[in-house]
Amino acid sequence: MNPLQPAELLHEGKAKKVFLTNRPDVVAVQFKDDATAFNAQKKAQLSGKGLLNWEISARLFEALEAEGISSHYLGCLGPGWMVVQQVEIIPVEVVLRNRAAGSLCRQTPITPGTPLESPLLDLYYKDDDLGDPLLTEARLELLGLLRKEERDEIERIARAVNSALQKLLAALKIELVDFKLEFGRSPSGELILADEISPDTCRLWDAGSAEAESESRILDKDRFRKDLGGVVEAYGEVLKRVQGMGSAPRQYR
Ligand code: TMP
Repeated sequence: MNPLQPAELLHEGKAKKVFLTNRPDVVAVQFKDDATAFNAQKKAQLSGKGLLNWEISARLFEALEAEGISSHYLGCLGPGWMVVQQVEIIPVEVVLRNRAAGSLCRQTPITPGTPLESPLLDLYYKDDDLGDPLLTEARLELLGLLRKEERDEIERIARAVNSALQKLLAALKIELVDFKLEFGRSPSGELILADEISPDTCRLWDAGSAEAESESRILDKDRFRKDLGGVVEAYGEVLKRVQGMGSAPRQYR
């Protein structure tokens, strides 16, 4: 078979570009250095971020696969490029929280850092213009975004991802505070875990940090959101630890 080649640009998001390829139903994703927060109201270029998120995400998708959790990820195509199954992204952001942070603390009286006895699943409508609003189950149904079986399957997968990621990151002395997943549908209608899993989409705290209560433990996009500096350095630390799990991500063939 001919080697896989990216062809025309299919979609450009805030952090990634998606290209069609010379194979049907297979697309190539390029990770960008662009950083955005607060629904793209805050923007910057962070040199090296794309490569870091690409490698972290590829390694985490492979680690999940080893735990029996499949995704759109097929392999890599050189630095910064991931080959994935083509899916139509469902505009629902699936957030799993182990500890209170971010919007949960802005919208409720829960104190930041409070451990959540059972991980909380929140669904948001993915729409920057609307500010990614929190969905109720009734609104989810009203909008017809997911069939009932898909809604349940998404929760099952998100909780399985949480258990697996929590465990593997804990071994690297990283605490998984919360994370966001996105799902898509393949051309045959199959529900598939998609997007990326990186410090852009997870809150990661350095469990090995001596200053347990300080901001120095933050190893994720909150460094950018809160203007703490050292964003690329923190992502680099996450990659360094994740590299400790095993060999380089596989090449797509
Ligand atoms: P939140 O506390 O702002 O709702 O974020 C929860 C988690 O979801 C956090 O790990 C960051 C991630 N996230 C995204 O990946 N994209 C987004 O657009 C938002 C709002 C959050």
